Amino acid sequence: MSSVRIVEVGPRDGLQNEAVLLPTQKKVELIDRLADAGLREIEATSFVSPQWVPQMADHADVMRRLVRRPGLRYPVLTPNLRGYQTAVASGAAHVAVFTSASESFARKNINSSIEESFARFAPVFEAARADGIPVRGYVSCAIACPYEGRVAPERVAHVARRLVEAGCYEVSLGDTIGVGTPATVMPLLEAVAAVVPLERIAGHFHDTYGMGIANVHAAYEFGVRVFDSSVGGLGGCPYAKGATGNVATEDLVYLLKDRGIDTGVDLDRLVDCAVWISQQLGRPLASRVGRALQCAAA
Ligand code: HMG
Ligand code: MG
Repeated sequence: MSSVRIVEVGPRDGLQNEAVLLPTQKKVELIDRLADAGLREIEATSFVSPQWVPQMADHADVMRRLVRRPGLRYPVLTPNLRGYQTAVASGAAHVAVFTSASESFARKNINSSIEESFARFAPVFEAARADGIPVRGYVSCAIACPYEGRVAPERVAHVARRLVEAGCYEVSLGDTIGVGTPATVMPLLEAVAAVVPLERIAGHFHDTYGMGIANVHAAYEFGVRVFDSSVGGLGGCPYAKGATGNVATEDLVYLLKDRGIDTGVDLDRLVDCAVWISQQLGRPLASRVGRALQCAAA
């Protein structure tokens, strides 16, 4: 049986865009429930500026209250050295930097050019190397930008390659606004895989047009074995208006399970978690698989 690594991004990507500010203890409970469901890599929060993303302002508290389980990873986003230092002081052992393949989105999301973002990351990589902390990298707007439209795969490949050369063990390609389809994802993967080893590429598909799971399948066929997803299909970026959640973790697990691919996740427990978090946020469960399994169980 082959296997796929899932990076659950619900507590970070999922909650950063919600109007409801979830209390810290509920965030910690969400992370615990995800771990109970079998998720092994759970992006817990982001050490970004609270002025920019108030939903993540309690980042240090989340990390301090978390009861870490052996063998599990709880990566966090760190946009700069300040974020990195606070994250590590709060107990983070895995971090992720994030930039963009589009200049306009970089400016709106992180208030810098792409070049400047790499200058900010340089001390993060240096400190992480010294601390023995693995750094993941994200490239946003891997298919298109909310301000510039289509983004050429070569531009994404260039940024992805720079992240890996700078020290990222893996680079996650973000279809931030969820407009990709297999017809655009395949050329993207071809361009990136020409400059970054395939085993270091992850797919991060938002589901705005309902194409997330089709894109996962196309990327799997291409050879990608790491996918980011969000319980209940939560998610979105506050600086990408109109973009909806990540591909739902339960949709991903359902797809892979039926192909005999091991994810280590208990689908029933995951759906319970998706129902729970949707209730906490006062919204209906977004994922189709979640709703179907909920109906079947009723
Ligand atoms: P800036 O305003 O240019 O930063 O923001 P600055 O260095 O000029 O500092 C301004 C103030 O912010 C200062 O405070 C700093 O101390 C403070 P003051 O002295 O004025 O009181 N500050 C911080 N505070 C806490 N933590 C920090 C930090 N850094 C500075 N780390 C910055 C630059 C990058 C910080 C800002 O633009 C920011 O926080 N942006 C984050 C936006 C964000 O989180 N977006 C969502 C995540 S990315 C995403 O969702 C895409 C992804 O899912 C993949 C995909 O889907 O494509 C990953
Ligand atoms: Mg995202």
